[in-house]
Amino acid sequence: MTDKKVIVFDTTLRDGEQSPGASLNVIEKVEIARQLEKLNVDVIEAGFPVSSPTQFEAVKRVSGEVDVIVAALCRAKELDIQKAYEAISGAQKKRIHTFSSTSDYHILGKFGHERYGKTLEEKRKTIIKMSYDAVAFAKTFCDDVEFSAEDAGRTDIGYLADVIEAAISAGATTVNIPDTTGYTLPHEFGEKIAELKRRVKNIDQAVISVHCHNDLGLAVANTISALDQGARQVECTINGIGERAGNASLEEIVMALRVRKDLLDYYTDINPLEIYNTSKMVSGFTGIIVQPNKAIVGENAFAHESGIHQDGMLKNRNTYEIMTPESVGVPMTKIILGRHSGRHGLKVRLEELGYTTSEEELNKAYARFTKLADKKKEVFDDDLRVIMGDEVFSEIAYYDFDYLNVLSGSVSVPTATVRIKAKDAIFEESSTGDGPVDAMFNAIDRALNIKPEVESYRVRSVTSGRQALGEVNVRLRIGNGTYSGRGISTDIIEASGKAYLQALNQMELNKCETEKFIEENALTNAS
Ligand code: KIV
Ligand code: ZN
Repeated sequence: MTDKKVIVFDTTLRDGEQSPGASLNVIEKVEIARQLEKLNVDVIEAGFPVSSPTQFEAVKRVSGEVDVIVAALCRAKELDIQKAYEAISGAQKKRIHTFSSTSDYHILGKFGHERYGKTLEEKRKTIIKMSYDAVAFAKTFCDDVEFSAEDAGRTDIGYLADVIEAAISAGATTVNIPDTTGYTLPHEFGEKIAELKRRVKNIDQAVISVHCHNDLGLAVANTISALDQGARQVECTINGIGERAGNASLEEIVMALRVRKDLLDYYTDINPLEIYNTSKMVSGFTGIIVQPNKAIVGENAFAHESGIHQDGMLKNRNTYEIMTPESVGVPMTKIILGRHSGRHGLKVRLEELGYTTSEEELNKAYARFTKLADKKKEVFDDDLRVIMGDEVFSEIAYYDFDYLNVLSGSVSVPTATVRIKAKDAIFEESSTGDGPVDAMFNAIDRALNIKPEVESYRVRSVTSGRQALGEVNVRLRIGNGTYSGRGISTDIIEASGKAYLQALNQMELNKCETEKFIEENALTNAS
């Protein structure tokens, strides 16, 4: 590896999935991981295994599917580290990524208990020891260990240097400097990296990584500033999704390095032609819509609206274009499938869009496609993408509609009747409501004897025209948990019902997996 190569560490499946409202099932995560491999990222952070049974399972499944390095996140605790290793043990190339909090805000907030020390000074010492021990323990499982100093952006530089030095002396091969709260400014963050290079004696024994959040919209600028000061790994996500305002966006970093090669003399191994498909797949599966004016992958990123711009473009594309849409994989011709398209045609198109389907998945996709093509004359790529996410790669449902009837009009009281099949029971109920959707949600609640709080409800049209598919996203709060669901249909009432049931299915899945996890761990501990 030359000094000019920038390692791309993709955390879409971990930090990206922490975006409010994003929820990916295990099958979708595996499919995204395969696409990230086509994109040619160097590292895929697949999840935080100790945090939930589903996370554990997802990391394990991704580990068995791809040849790139698979990283698993863990706190600086033995059980976390063990679980992280267990989850990635099947991977060809594995990395344990452990972290400790280093800013005073985090230390005082998370390590307030006296057992970590009475004074800030004592607590800081405890954290250095915990970090050292965590890296040393992780090294007993695998050579490739990354250490992150959480909230490094707001950490005192002298203390940060001590923590990083300790982590490297314990064997960390990558040291990550996260701007966890997206607080720093580009010149300030770059200077932090430069100062670490000056202060940390053993810094040349590890790769310096950066992980920038976008709270001030500066994540990509901060990342690039850090590269200028010697960082050689960038942590980023597709479409910039992630906690709060998100993470640095992979496609923006990669294209900035390519387009401004004159000033940024580094390279990544990313295949930019896969950027568009990856962005679409992530947006389709997570339900997080890409803003139209988003750089590189937004719908308007290459659109020229005003007459002057259009005229300039016709004369010479360079007038208003610094990169071509083709260079990031935007298709130049619109392929439309219809009711006469065959199974083979569908398979080829799905492959072109980045989806790998088993025989069974293709059958499911084709059945859904023909149903849709009967209702809608033209089936667009975006229709196929939502079908793949919601119907084909969906997990086994605990609840499903047997039927759903909704009556509504300007003079009648909206009324819904639902009949729901569960594993070994049928539930049927009717209810009224403020509108048809409310009536249906009430009927489901009565049938299943639950009362979730609807935290969010969103409808959008997937493509345009009268027959467009409607996509509904709901987030429900039930007890201490929140569960998201997505439904699609040309009928938005049906889409709403499917989304609601999918959220309830997520709740049931979570219950089952938690029980299984408790059972398995009880057995492991006993043996
Ligand atoms: O933002 C952050 O600090 C993180 C770390 C766990 C790397 O996501
Ligand atoms: Zn983060």
